[in-house]
Amino acid sequence: MRKNIVAGNWKMNKNLQEGIALAEELNEALAEKTINCDVVICTPYIHLAPVCATIDTDLIGVGAENCADHESGAFTGEISASMVASTGAQYVILGHSERRAYYGETNATLKTKTGLALKNNLTPIFCVGEVLAERENGTYFDIVKTQLSEALFELSAEDFSKIVIAYEPVWAIGTGKTASPAQAQEIHEFIRKTIADKYGKEVADNTSILYGGSCNASNAKELFANPDVDGGLIGGAALKVETFMPIIEAF
Ligand code: 13P
Repeated sequence: MRKNIVAGNWKMNKNLQEGIALAEELNEALAEKTINCDVVICTPYIHLAPVCATIDTDLIGVGAENCADHESGAFTGEISASMVASTGAQYVILGHSERRAYYGETNATLKTKTGLALKNNLTPIFCVGEVLAERENGTYFDIVKTQLSEALFELSAEDFSKIVIAYEPVWAIGTGKTASPAQAQEIHEFIRKTIADKYGKEVADNTSILYGGSCNASNAKELFANPDVDGGLIGGAALKVETFMPIIEAF
């Protein structure tokens, strides 16, 4: 059966020393408790190797926030999936709305990145989600379906089974506006049905679908109580142990 996962996305926050300190503090907090979900932190690239060396990676999974759309070569400033994997990281966020909006990432680019991540044994945390206008005009089902089908639906069922999906409505990211538990359940159920239509019920039932967008200690429990919400991808609240732990403990 699918896993419950709470993943932090640090985005472009924390210098190296601050990042290592946060990871160590989280490691200590988790070591003292019984936790009922998998915990992952996705950090800036430079943090990956030292964080993996510092923490217990059986307790906390580590991931990058992106990877390149090429295997290697003359792509100045880029970091490949194989480089990410060589740090000890096991995950990579792909298709975050900030990457789509500010760096022009398309479903076609993301298809390439997903293939490279899988080839290097990384678990993609693949983000989908609509902007406010698409929520308001009711096209959000089609938007999310297109994001999934154009980037992922040429994968084999075996490869698709390795992917974690994160539904992140753009209007809820960093805004303090959260999808209501009913709104989250509606679209998560739709995502699972879309996966079932393509890959069958067993693959769909085994896919973890996380919610992201202003998820915090006060709304996590209600969101995670939905049958199709299998955890969260957390931005701001993942930057402090005091705000991240209660979300983890919502399971
Ligand atoms: P916030 O939790 O800060 O809204 O960010 C969500 C997000 O973008 C996680 O990837």
